[in-house]
Amino acid sequence: MWQDAQLNRIASTLSECGYVVLDKALPDELCRQLAYEARNDMQAYYREAGVGRGGLPLQDKNIRGDQITWLSGQTPVQSEWLHHMEALRVALNERLFLGLFSFESHYAHYAPGAFYQKHLDAFRGRSNRILSTVFYLNEAWQSNWGGELGLYSEHNQEELLEKVEPMFGRMVIFLSDTFPHEVKAASKDRYSIAGWFRVNSSDSKQIDPNA
Ligand code: OGA
Ligand code: MN
Repeated sequence: MWQDAQLNRIASTLSECGYVVLDKALPDELCRQLAYEARNDMQAYYREAGVGRGGLPLQDKNIRGDQITWLSGQTPVQSEWLHHMEALRVALNERLFLGLFSFESHYAHYAPGAFYQKHLDAFRGRSNRILSTVFYLNEAWQSNWGGELGLYSEHNQEELLEKVEPMFGRMVIFLSDTFPHEVKAASKDRYSIAGWFRVNSSDSKQIDPNA
């Protein structure tokens, strides 16, 4: 599972910067199994992802072109993934007092050419998504294939803070309502798991941007 030193670094970087990029975040074997499942066993279950702003989720490929399928823990590898993320949830609560209550996640597949325009994962005060996580499942990904995650400043939507290549085993964690971010189109299939730690506020009736 997670090492204490690693958890301390995640917590301190999150509190200083609001985001953190981790390489080799999880055991190699788990990464490989997740990558295999994303590309094979789950293939029949992907659906076009929706976008929404407090209404019904709509599908609009000019905004986002990925296909998603939610993880429910129904396979041993999904259950192991959820155990790791549960341990992370508890560790972050201990260190940052965030009151994170639950975690939800989906596999995402961006076919060549698919992208996700700049967006926030939560609208301030109107969502219970607190922390976003993205975990990349692309073995031997090459820089010239594109598909970067662009993370922008909360103060200036045009100021690029970080360009993250979707390398195998890399995890990005960031405050959901703070950083505008986008996914650039790639020339190859791009697989990841997007997840959100939530607080338990039942008064949030809004549908999140990417429900
Ligand atoms: C998302 C998202 C980023 C990525 O699913 O909301 O922003 O790098 N994903 O896949
Ligand atoms: Mn997002």
